[in-house]
Parts: sequence; structure tokens; C-alpha cells
Amino acid sequence: MTHTLIVTNIGQLVTLGRGPVPRTGEAMSDLAIEEDAALVAVDGEIVWIGPSGEVEWAGANDIIDARGACVVPGLVDPHTHLVWAGSREREFEMRIQGRTYMEVMAAGGGIHASVASTRAASEVDLTIGAIARLDRMISAGTTTVEAKSGYGLSVADELKCLRAVRDVARRGPATIVPTFLGAHAVPKEFLSADAYVDSIVNEQLSAVAKEEGLARFCDVFVEQGVFTADQGERVLTAAKQLGMGVRVHADEFADTGGAALAARVGAASADHLAASSDEGLEAMRKAGVIATLLPGTPFVLRSKAYPRARDMISMGLPVALATDLNPNCMIDSMPFVMSLACLQMGMTPAEALTASTINAAESLGLGHRVGSLVVGKRADLVVLEAADYRHLAYSINRDVVRTVVKEGRIV
Ligand code: NIG
Ligand code: FE
Repeated sequence: MTHTLIVTNIGQLVTLGRGPVPRTGEAMSDLAIEEDAALVAVDGEIVWIGPSGEVEWAGANDIIDARGACVVPGLVDPHTHLVWAGSREREFEMRIQGRTYMEVMAAGGGIHASVASTRAASEVDLTIGAIARLDRMISAGTTTVEAKSGYGLSVADELKCLRAVRDVARRGPATIVPTFLGAHAVPKEFLSADAYVDSIVNEQLSAVAKEEGLARFCDVFVEQGVFTADQGERVLTAAKQLGMGVRVHADEFADTGGAALAARVGAASADHLAASSDEGLEAMRKAGVIATLLPGTPFVLRSKAYPRARDMISMGLPVALATDLNPNCMIDSMPFVMSLACLQMGMTPAEALTASTINAAESLGLGHRVGSLVVGKRADLVVLEAADYRHLAYSINRDVVRTVVKEGRIV
């Protein structure tokens, strides 16, 4: 039995279907919009796009009348820490009262606090928590999500977190890309970062790689007081040898060579980049690393140090956006991230949409399947409660999402 979905009377169909990927420079503003269009999907794949008046109705199982609204590709969130237990509202208050993120972390809070609660939680509880977060993300239009471990920091607890991610992915409907982030912090029981890096390289990575489908990528938090670029390189080199792709938390607070490391190891993405130098960014551009920007993080940290998105776009770096959803940054909505990208980093609504769809998909190695609406790709799309795509960024804190479709099914 095949399943056919028709979406018709689309006022603005944002296909993002034109030109080379990932998009850079002016091509980030080329949304390839079709007006008064319809789209047909069979068994989750787009088989036809054309004028509304020419759509073939026979055999449709589901019909969405968009009534002139805008349709965009399903949003892609390429950086989340989806799995954790506990919450950190006390730290939220402490930071408002003047403590910095790194001070809180050095005092045993931050990631360490979430590690303690995550270690104490069962795999089932972690799965249930992640499903609740994912449901909210989907209702804000996200259909593909990267999900990191990184609050376990031991073989058993990292495996527990990645198995929870796998359980969530199997339940559907979103596509989930799992990332192993054992190098998120040095856990208390290790006396040195080097000793912990040894255990990541010698124990955690092989345990993760042994189990089918647990991690497509490996990530490291390269930052002053966390891991050095050299330590990050050891982890990522070992991960590559096991067949994983690599990503880097780079230059979030200080430039410790994270962007340059991402270029050197051929990372799919370097993320944060608020403190990166021109040299680091240029090395990324030459190596084809996507710059994934997380404006929700400086927003929650009350920092004025946003990544230099305008410079990055001018120099030809492909930019993606993500929520960074984590217990410090309780942001699950890509439309809200797009609003921040526009208001705090000067990206245009068109650039923000490109960064939240095709470029984000490319950073996850999924650009051939999702991120744009063209024949042959997955029918992942969002019908907006508005006629113009700019409402995604413009309608802050208002639900602009009317209907979410994942692989041809209304979710
Ligand atoms: O991307 N910077 C490192 N990791 C997360 C924060 C994790 C946490 O505070 O729990 C981030 O911002
Ligand atoms: Fe992060």
C-alpha cells in the first residue's frame, strides 16, 4: 500500500532547491521560491512539484490545503544536548546575580551538576525526558535533530545516554543524528584532563563504536579550562579511525584554536565560534567546515559576544544555526533561534532560513535527503500560519507553525 500526500494552494513554496551546497555568500539569500504551488509525496518522498492548478488528485490519502500559506522545508537543528536529567534553575539565578558560566562550572556546577543527575537516572527516564523535549521541537517545525551524549562521562553512562538517543530515534518521527561527546568535561574522579582523554580514546570510543548505530559523529568541547586543541585532536583522530564523522565545540568563550583544529581534522562542523580569529575562520573556509552558530547561548549567558555572522557570510563561510538545547540553554525552537540570528547577529530572515535547513542538513551529512524541497528528497515540510517566510524570524514567541509533515505524514 503506497501513501500519497498532496499539499496544495501553497502561496510561497520555499524550495531552497537551487545551486551548490552548502550555500555561501549571496547564495544564502537565494531561497528558490515557487508561487501558487503544489507538492506531491509518495511514501515519504517528493515526486512532483508544480503549479497548484496542475496537481493530479487521483489516489491521494492525505490532502493539505495550505490556503495561500507559506511552506518551508522541515527545520534541521544540528546541535542539541537532547539527553540529560535534572535542571539548573539555581545557576540561572546565580548568573543573573553576576557569576559567569565558567565560574559556575569551576565551582562544580554547570556540566558537572548535570552529569551527577544524569548518572543517577535510568535509561528509560532519560528516554522519556528526551521524547518530551523532542515533541516540543517538532511542534516548532524541527524534523531533523542532532543529539549529543556528554552528561555521562564514563563508559557505562555515555552508552546509557546514546542508547536513550537510539530509543528516541526508533520511536520516530524525527530523524535523529547521534553524536558521542565523551569529551564534554573532565569528570571529578579523574585527576587530569590527559588521563580522562586516555580513557576516552582507549575505552569509551571503542565501546561506542562496537554497538551498531550509537554514534554517527564525535564531538569535543575545546575551551580554556576544559580540553585543549591537542587533547581534542587526539579524541577526534581516534574517532575518525573508527569511522565517525567529527564536530567541534570551538572558541565559545576564548580562542584556544578550536576553529583551526576543526579545519585540521576536516570536521563537518565547528560550533559556537564567538571568539574565533579571522585566521581560524579562514582555515575553516578552506577546509570546507560549516560554521554552526548558536545565538541562544550568548542570549542565556547575557553575553554581548555573539559570533560574527556577517563577517563569516562575507568571507564565504557556510553558516548553519542550531538551538544548543541543553540544561543551561532551554531553547528548543528553531524559529526563536532564527529571530535571535536576525536581531543579534544581523542575519537576514532568508539567510537564517537557509542556515536552519539546507546548510544545517549538510553539516549532518544529510543534505542529499533533507533540508530542501525538491523531487527525490524526503517530504519533510512545515506549513506556516503566515503567507511569507519572514514570519518565521519576525513572529517572535508566536507560534507560526500550522502543520508539520515528516516523510509525507502529518505529525
Ligand atoms: O554547547 N559548551 C559546552 N556545552 C554546552 C553547554 C552544556 C551545559 O552547560 O550543560 C554548550 O553550550
Ligand atoms: Fe553545545
